[in-house]
Amino acid sequence: MFNKKTIKDIDVNDKVVLVRVDYNVPMDGGEIESDIRIRASLPTIEYLVSNGAKKIILISHMGRPEGERKPDLSLKPVADRLTEILNNSIIRTHDGAVPIVRFSSDVFGDGVTSLLTDLPNQGVMLLENLRFWPEEEKNDAEFAKKIIESTGAEIFVQDGFAVVHRAHASTDAICKVLPAVAGLLVEREVTVLESVISEPEKPVLLIIGGAKVDDKKPLIEKFLPIADNICVGGKIASDGYVAEDEKIYVASDFVTDENGAKLDIGAIATRDILEKIHFAKTIIWNGTVGLTEREPFDLASRTIARAIGHKTDATSIICGGDTTGFVEGVQKLEPGLKYSLISTGGGASLELLSGLKLPGLISLADK
Ligand code: 3PG
Repeated sequence: MFNKKTIKDIDVNDKVVLVRVDYNVPMDGGEIESDIRIRASLPTIEYLVSNGAKKIILISHMGRPEGERKPDLSLKPVADRLTEILNNSIIRTHDGAVPIVRFSSDVFGDGVTSLLTDLPNQGVMLLENLRFWPEEEKNDAEFAKKIIESTGAEIFVQDGFAVVHRAHASTDAICKVLPAVAGLLVEREVTVLESVISEPEKPVLLIIGGAKVDDKKPLIEKFLPIADNICVGGKIASDGYVAEDEKIYVASDFVTDENGAKLDIGAIATRDILEKIHFAKTIIWNGTVGLTEREPFDLASRTIARAIGHKTDATSIICGGDTTGFVEGVQKLEPGLKYSLISTGGGASLELLSGLKLPGLISLADK
């Protein structure tokens, strides 16, 4: 059960609402490669607009500019994409208009205040990349207060699920100044992820891939008492990971390149994992099992993505930045593939599933 207050537990009518989103979208030469994280914020924006919020101010980071303005990490292209998405959405203000989107190249100061004064009611304003200011990552209380004062925000909504594992000004300090509740994306992701820890339908299958075994160890340890099977592929397996428990299966045949490098799991391991997928009622997949960016070493991961996406009798969770990007790509070619949750959070979902307490959730008001 989600035990934090959400936007549905408070009155947002006529309020100026500050919403932390995670618009840390992949960019290539100034172009947005995937707008999934922008689209994932729509339910909360829609709820706020249709429940009469006066102004909606969105704050986010992008990349790791380390406290400096870096033009290639500006959120301006995201504001443009949000405008396009809202124009084509069903979200309408009380007057039946598409909400106006404005962008501010600052996050506090007179410029922000005057842009907001000019913003029509029920308009949306995206502020510049918070991490252009070093105070953001320092969880600086004064920085949080400056944002609040300049925007006149009355309520804070945390909807950036992908960043709730960070204790930053926009995930922690800000919650000490304003009433702070969860948005609908945070509520949904946390509810689904926590349910597979607390009350999963059995058999439970955890599929682990990727390169860094140390990142995955806490997840494996957390799931040893929960899962019926844990399958390990990817570089972790090809580097010789040794199972410490009989319910852990480690791939042992591989597809190699011309130099003998093991870049994908082989046919036997793929078949064994497919068999476990077939019987599972709860599947959590974190980490691709091969080098998916290089064909044909994406084959086993593609086969696994399709097998999970075709299942209609299981809860399926896809998490981890590379895995979700890959599965979204497979799903684009085959829209019939369905998953219970493709998490927007990389580190956040890994930490939550590993049983860690996340600062950006702790700081929200309890129910
Ligand atoms: C992510 O992409 O995982 C989040 O946006 C968090 O980014 P960070 O790892 O730079 O804090």
